[in-house]
Amino acid sequence: MRSYKAKMVEPIRLPSRETRARNLEAAGYNVFNLASRDVYVDLLTDSGTGTMSDAQWAAMIRGDEAYAGSRSFERLQQSVEDVMGFSRVIPTHQGRGAENVLYGTLLEEGEIALNNTHFDTTRAHVAHQGAQAVDCPVDAPWDGDAGDFAGNFDVEKARAVVEEHGPDTVPVVILTITNNSAAGQPVSMQNIRETAVFADEIDATFVIDACRFAENAHFIKSREPEYADTPLADIAREQFELADACTMSGKKDALVNIGGFVGVRDPDLFAACKQRAILYEGFTTYGGLAGRDLEAMAVGLREAVDPPYVAERVEQVATLGELLTDAGIPIVRPTGGHAVYIDAAALLPHIPSEAFPGQRLVVELYREGGVRAVELGSFAFPGAEHPEFVRLAIPRRTYWREHLEHVAETAARVAEQADEYVGLEIVSEPPIPELRHFSAELRPVE
Ligand code: F0G
Repeated sequence: MRSYKAKMVEPIRLPSRETRARNLEAAGYNVFNLASRDVYVDLLTDSGTGTMSDAQWAAMIRGDEAYAGSRSFERLQQSVEDVMGFSRVIPTHQGRGAENVLYGTLLEEGEIALNNTHFDTTRAHVAHQGAQAVDCPVDAPWDGDAGDFAGNFDVEKARAVVEEHGPDTVPVVILTITNNSAAGQPVSMQNIRETAVFADEIDATFVIDACRFAENAHFIKSREPEYADTPLADIAREQFELADACTMSGKKDALVNIGGFVGVRDPDLFAACKQRAILYEGFTTYGGLAGRDLEAMAVGLREAVDPPYVAERVEQVATLGELLTDAGIPIVRPTGGHAVYIDAAALLPHIPSEAFPGQRLVVELYREGGVRAVELGSFAFPGAEHPEFVRLAIPRRTYWREHLEHVAETAARVAEQADEYVGLEIVSEPPIPELRHFSAELRPVE
């Protein structure tokens, strides 16, 4: 049952098939180059693309635009303290701004950061410090039942890294909840505790990448028996109890279009982070945001732990997963909190990795139905061993079941013609390989 209704709408149109084909060619077969007016259902990302509530819009009117010490900052700080338990808060323009502030302060050249799986921007900020980002995910089968908590951190793998390099080389241990790069799978409370103990053992700062903390809390409540009767907001908060710091992209579970923050406990770390924040984000009570943006985030953070909202959110992702499964599309199961991940290698087995089966699928989803998805496989991660995923990320509180049915029908039509599709080859690419999928141009293999 839906616990909200729409009171503002945005028209969308499905361009003609000819126009879609022309758009693809003009975009160099890269959907990042499409105009949003030419997209019918946009599942490129769940980041900053959701719908704000009337309470959030109302709060924005109160935005205190003072350069320093605004009331809007105080309200954000109070929300972060109430919802996540951090009283020391530095706003930033978005999640990667928070990563820059925190990891720029914590990491030095030659050091190592451990994470269940680093999201792209986290990895890039670790690398920017001259440090090494090492992933320690649990092994999960992506073509079968992934299990309840396939996003977990593998403490044994992490211990092996520490034994090889010495504990002094690992000043930071990170947990990304949910684990976006591992098919959006959740992390259990038990694993959060084990990871905290491990970080403590090696005297590392334990950081939570909190982007989708509310969705993660929902999975803990529904899958970890010990938490079945614990209120969602208490679980959400308990996730951070043992963490020294968090980085947050407000564009996810703070339900805003822009914003982020760093939360820390230690006053010295706070002081050091503030210096870097002033340099890169702005004064420490606005962090690159307008006062009204801080207001929207302060309200959104509280709405994110409202049980009906989160239950519907996760349920909507599961619904898309079921519709796709019924249509015979191979996906990672069970679905995570923000997106469905299609296994493109299973759908297009005749296209080898070098010819980007996932990107071909992305292209055909747009051609068939104006649906925009994103490739997270050999095109996005050159040189890495990565499953050939295509991610359909659902913006929060934005689409209805009819849109999801359209996506599944589109995917079914693509699947029917799977044998006919050939792979793609790169025509031009940017100098930084890690950023290839945002701007490279392709063409179908002859
Ligand atoms: N950490 C995780 C786990 C993320 O998913 C993202 C963003 C970030 C950090 C960075 O936050 O975009 O506000 O700077 N993920 C988006 C996505 C872009 O589509 O998955 P940001």
